[in-house]
This record gives sequence, structure tokens and C-alpha cells, in this order.
Amino acid sequence: MENKIKRTPRDKEPELKLRGDKIAGNRYYSKDFLHKELSLVWPKVWQIAGWASEIPEPNDFFIYKVGHEEILVVRQKDTTIRAFYNVCPHRGNLLVQVNEGSLKTFKCSYHGWEFNTEGILKYAKDSEDFVEKNLCENLSLEEVSCEESLGFVWINFDRNCTPLREFIYPAIEHLEPYQTKKFLRVLNLTAEIKCNWKMLHDNFSETYHVDTLHPELMSQMDNNYNDSQFDMYESGINRMLMPGHRPAKSFINNNVIEFPLTDVLKMWGLDPSQFNGKTSEARTALQNNKRKLAKENGYWHYEFLTNEQLTDYYHYSFFPNFSLTMTPDGFELLRPQPHPTDPERCFMEHWYMVPIIEGSLSGSSTFKGGEDINNLEGELFTETPAGRRLLQNAPHQWVEYPKESLGFIIDQDVGIALSQQKGVKSRGFKHSLLLGQEGRVRRYHEMLNDYIRRTEK
Ligand code: FES
Ligand SMILES: [Fe+2]
Repeated sequence: MENKIKRTPRDKEPELKLRGDKIAGNRYYSKDFLHKELSLVWPKVWQIAGWASEIPEPNDFFIYKVGHEEILVVRQKDTTIRAFYNVCPHRGNLLVQVNEGSLKTFKCSYHGWEFNTEGILKYAKDSEDFVEKNLCENLSLEEVSCEESLGFVWINFDRNCTPLREFIYPAIEHLEPYQTKKFLRVLNLTAEIKCNWKMLHDNFSETYHVDTLHPELMSQMDNNYNDSQFDMYESGINRMLMPGHRPAKSFINNNVIEFPLTDVLKMWGLDPSQFNGKTSEARTALQNNKRKLAKENGYWHYEFLTNEQLTDYYHYSFFPNFSLTMTPDGFELLRPQPHPTDPERCFMEHWYMVPIIEGSLSGSSTFKGGEDINNLEGELFTETPAGRRLLQNAPHQWVEYPKESLGFIIDQDVGIALSQQKGVKSRGFKHSLLLGQEGRVRRYHEMLNDYIRRTEK
């Protein structure tokens, strides 16, 4: 069945006409603008509430928080997932006070009302005493739309929303070949950052900044915009296909193969020195060897991917606030969540998901290069953009930025966002001046404007 999975297409989408709305500074610091976003945009969009394998068994639950809302996400007896506002309908107490767990019933800590995992009220003390008879019969928690897809749990506050598949089309089809639902989430970080959430999402929607901000990446990423493909879809999904595993043309040392590309080539049976002077050939050679050696090395999922996907970065931006960077050996979610009251603060989330590879090779050759995954105690590790981590579902971890790191590349992005947050408030800044390759930033803000305008009416 899985062998019939449709390949991720490379077709270039016809150019989308953008209006050129001005992106002025106030949307990054105005309380009024934040209020509009939280009241007009967020209640209408599909959002990732969590990683589905966090709640593998019936009765397992976690709480997803966004803005002022808390959502209780629960695995049902029939293994589907449902989601409810985490609020007791009696007098509005928060129903569940812990972030995760497994419970057969949810009991309110105020007057003891009890709800089952389907959200139905099962017990209310002195129920005969209701002034309006039958008030507590058939009473349920308020439900929100919920779907499981690509390994994520998605929710939408709107019960009459566009189906998820349509909302994230065509990304949902493009990402299916990666087999992400079988991956492990090995990194689950959050840091509170003193900048607007869109400042970071803008950053993750362009690669114009790579040469100046992340020169380390240029030894393995061909970030020149002429070599990348950019696509913007009607749904609001944007993507960028960027060649990987060859140095950027503008990289100062682009004649020589450097770490981590050296290690990746060795890991796949290639001698890095043979590509010195012809580094652009490393990518194709690697594709061929990966294809040839994948099965015997336990890389069970490569057969669903095209040759280009075996080396390249397929980057998808989702409306309104997250991106997924896909590589064959792991994928990264970057998501700045809005702060409920302060437009100049956000919660930056960094997740990394990897396939489980039986055998001796690292689960993540793309970000860091091949290393032995066995440590002395026999535990399995994998490389991630935030360093080496245990190959297991990671518990959530709060990061105190900048004392602690979100991953060195993200730290660089966050550092700039903090500086930019100050700059956009200056009278000297009028509005962003965007290049063609920053079209995804423009598209995203135009979508945001459309949502606000449409729902304001
Ligand atoms: S507020 Fe929950 S039982 Fe009263
Ligand atoms: Fe960046």
C-alpha cells in the first residue's frame, strides 16, 4: 500500500500575484494589532496542538495553550483524538491543571464536577438541586475541531472550519512521502523571547539572511536564490526547495568539501577529497549512494523519496506561524507562538523529529554529519539542530534564552529578531523593502491582512 504513495512533486507553481501591501513596524508592537490577530485570525486557523505519539494510549491527554486559550487534547477509546476547551462549564474553572497525563475522568478542583474523556458530564454533586431541571443532563465540554495528520495533532477553534486537508493543501500531500507519522520527536524546546511572533516567522520564511547570519551553513547548503525554487499556493502554504550537500557558490571555500559534508560523504561510502575542485558533484554522488545503500543500512523510508529529497531542504511555511524544514533524516518545526497580552513577546518552539533507523548509522546525517549513535551505556542518540539528543520521545523543556540555547542557528535568528524588534519602533523605519526572494514574507503578511479584513466586516 505504502509503496503506492505519491511522490512529492517538484513542479513549479505559477507565480502568485502579490499586491505589495506595506509592512510597517506597528504590526510588530501594537496591542491593538495583537488583539485583532488573536480575536480574528487565531480562532479560524488550523494549529498544531502537539505530536500525536505523545498520547499513544486511550485516556492519554495533553494541554495545548495559545493566546488566552487552553485546549484539552485526549486520545479516545477508539484511538481517535478529540479536543475540548479546558474549562469547566459550571463556573469557568480551568478543568485540568497539569500539562499532560492519563486519566479516565477529568474532575474539576472547584466543586468536583467530573467529565469523561468524551467530554460528557458524568457526575455533579447535588444534581437534584438544579433550579433549571435537566441542566446537567447531556452537558458536555465545549469541543473544538481536531484531526491527526503527518504525526501531528491539529486543532481549529472553529467547528465549521475548512477541512485540514484543504487548509494545508498541497503541503499535506507533499509531506506524506516522508512518513513523518512514524518519526520520534527528539527535541521539544520552548523559550520566551522578547519580540513579536511574526518577527521570527518572517525570518523563517526567507534565506536571504543566510550569508550574513549563518555563514556556517554555506559549506553544505546552496542558498543562492537562483538555485532555489520558490512556490506560493492559493491556500497560503509557501515552499522553498533548496539544494543541499554542496557548498553555496558564494561560499568562500567552495572548492573544498568541509565538515559536516565530509562526514556525511564518508558515512555513505564516498571519499570527500575526490570532490575537491568539483564540489558541486558531491550532491549527485551522495544521492546515488544513498539510493544504492539505503536498504542495507536500514533507511527504510528513502524508497518513498525522490533523489533530490535525499539531499535537499524542502522547506514549507504554514499560515499563520510555523515552518517545517524537511530533510530525509529528520525534520524541524520552528514556531513562534503569540503572547496572550504582550505584542513584544512570544514563545519560540523548536521541535525536531527523526526516523528510527535500526543499525549503526546516525538518525540525522544532514544537520551534523554521521556519528556513531551508541554511547558507552548503550543508549541511542541522534544528532539534532540543538546538538546530540537521546533517540526517544523528548519531554518538553523550557529554555532560558540567551543563557541557554535553542540550537545555535536559531539562536542567531533570535538574536537578530531582538534587535529588529527595537528597530521597527524607530521613527526612522517606514516599512519593509522586500526583494523577490522574500516574496513568502510578503505573501504571509498579505494573508494576515486578508484574514483581518475579512473577519472584521
Ligand atoms: S467550576 Fe467546576 S465544578 Fe464548579
Ligand atoms: Fe535563519
